[in-house]
Amino acid sequence: MRTTLSSLSGVCHACRYCSPFRHHLLSSTLRRHFHHRRHLLLRPLVSLSATTLSFCRHPNSNIFTGNSLCTKMEVMRWTYVIFLSSMLFNLCPQRFWTGIGINNNEAMVEHLKSYGVIRSKKVAEVMETIDRALFVPEGTPPYVDSPMQIGYNATISAPHMHAMCLELLEKNLQPGMHALDVGSGSGYLTACFAYMVGPQGRAVGVEHIPELVGTSIKNIQKSAAASLLKEGALSVHVGDGRLGWPEFAPYDAIHVGAAAPEIPQTLLDQLKPGGRMVIPVGNIFQDLKVVDKNLDGSISVHDETSVRYVPLTSRESQLRDY
Ligand SMILES: C[S@@+](CC[C@H](N)C(=O)[O-])C[C@H]1O[C@@H](n2cnc3c(N)ncnc32)[C@H](O)[C@@H]1O
Repeated sequence: MRTTLSSLSGVCHACRYCSPFRHHLLSSTLRRHFHHRRHLLLRPLVSLSATTLSFCRHPNSNIFTGNSLCTKMEVMRWTYVIFLSSMLFNLCPQRFWTGIGINNNEAMVEHLKSYGVIRSKKVAEVMETIDRALFVPEGTPPYVDSPMQIGYNATISAPHMHAMCLELLEKNLQPGMHALDVGSGSGYLTACFAYMVGPQGRAVGVEHIPELVGTSIKNIQKSAAASLLKEGALSVHVGDGRLGWPEFAPYDAIHVGAAAPEIPQTLLDQLKPGGRMVIPVGNIFQDLKVVDKNLDGSISVHDETSVRYVPLTSRESQLRDY
């Protein structure tokens, strides 16, 4: 569904259906997010539960008393169906995969391709080249499809979210283009952006925790994007990402790695006409918004999927209980 910015009241890090949060939300919504192949498998179950629920809300209040059209046997059968479908929901994995069996970067990329999250050659190439293992803390399993703690109440997002954001921004990450990564955290996506826009382009990370900026620079130095950092086509800065990074604006691509209460106007201002921003928006319920600045300067927004990211906030509030 596309909306214009004027009609919006406002404008991770994991897809709703791929995070532990999934079960609560999936059972309370029938919104269709079939961007993952296995959601197609869930569709009959979703409609089955919907049917079941509407059956149980039968206007005849005697329905469970045995004095209605519904016999006790039927009630037992429906109870069994509800039980079976809830069991099946719980058996469905919360992620595309766990760590078992995925012990190298290539295998992770192959999995993302087989699930249809990676569709383009360019995204496959960059994710094969920038090894995720260099961006997670020591002792953390790098290829599990889950966000991982990187300290300071921050996380590196799950591989499928990285892949999804790269796919959404791919056309705006052509050689020579400018890309901004707000809340750059581990530096993984900033490195991917730099690799895609190349030495003639510009990739800028902004992160408000100085220690994370330090770590991300060390991570990038070990990666295939090291030369771009050295040559100055890639830089990571300490700053409040809500203000963007005007020095290298306007940007063809802006990625925001933390959830904003609404689309920050400052970031919109730093988006080039023809540019695209991908940003999670919301508090408890968040949507990954895709914001396109059209050539005439007007803004189009659509929701890609429901997500769960850490908030885009002040440093003090992020570190409050750390
Ligand atoms: C989900 S995490 C990191 C995501 C990053 N894409 C990654 O995969 O490593 C979000 C990051 O946003 C940062 N952040 C939150 N609010 C911020 C702000 N106002 N300015 C800059 N960074 C912010 C957090 O410190 C955190 O590192």
